[in-house]
Amino acid sequence: PQFDMDDFTKVIVSENDIARKLDALSEQIRADYEGKDLLLVGVLKGAVMVMADLARRMPPTVQMDWMAVSSYGSGTKSSGVVRILKDLDADLSGRHVLIVEDIIDTGITLHWLLGNLRSRGAASVEVAALLRKPDAVQVEVPVRYLGFDIPNEFVVGYGLDYAESYRTLPFVAILKPSVYGE
Ligand code: PRP
Ligand code: MN
Ligand code: MG
Repeated sequence: PQFDMDDFTKVIVSENDIARKLDALSEQIRADYEGKDLLLVGVLKGAVMVMADLARRMPPTVQMDWMAVSSYGSGTKSSGVVRILKDLDADLSGRHVLIVEDIIDTGITLHWLLGNLRSRGAASVEVAALLRKPDAVQVEVPVRYLGFDIPNEFVVGYGLDYAESYRTLPFVAILKPSVYGE
């Protein structure tokens, strides 16, 4: 592999864990949205991996759109400030929207995004998130489809970055503090 396992304290969600969880979540989602047109809204950049793997488990009529918002700078702590870096192409009026996120940390990003998308006249807006850190949550967000609750550690991989690196790992792992200089 193109990565060094010594960079990580522990793999907390394996490639196989992710695949099996997405099988289960996608089955639920397909059942819940049967007969409806579903628009998946991925939150760049962290959600690219979960979006790709979830969307491939959906019927081919599923649509994908993307928003880029950022609540983190280049560091490891949330700044609490949400910025829109790229807006959606799609008009949400009358659409069934499922926001796809890699992780809920403080909840600030998703709380803000839910409010923003709900004001656009969608028929429904729900949330799917692969990971959540219950001990870091500052704002409760209603998550319809959740993968895993994880400890409040700095994790990378499967879309999650440290300073834009490590997004391409096939698993989610705790980054060694020595790597980010603490
Ligand atoms: C990360 C992650 C979520 C958000 C969660 O994104 O992908 O979108 O933070 O944090 P919160 O619950 O505290 O708001 P980030 O802002 O780092 O941008 P990125 O997806 O481009 O890495
Ligand atoms: Mn993100
Ligand atoms: Mg990030």
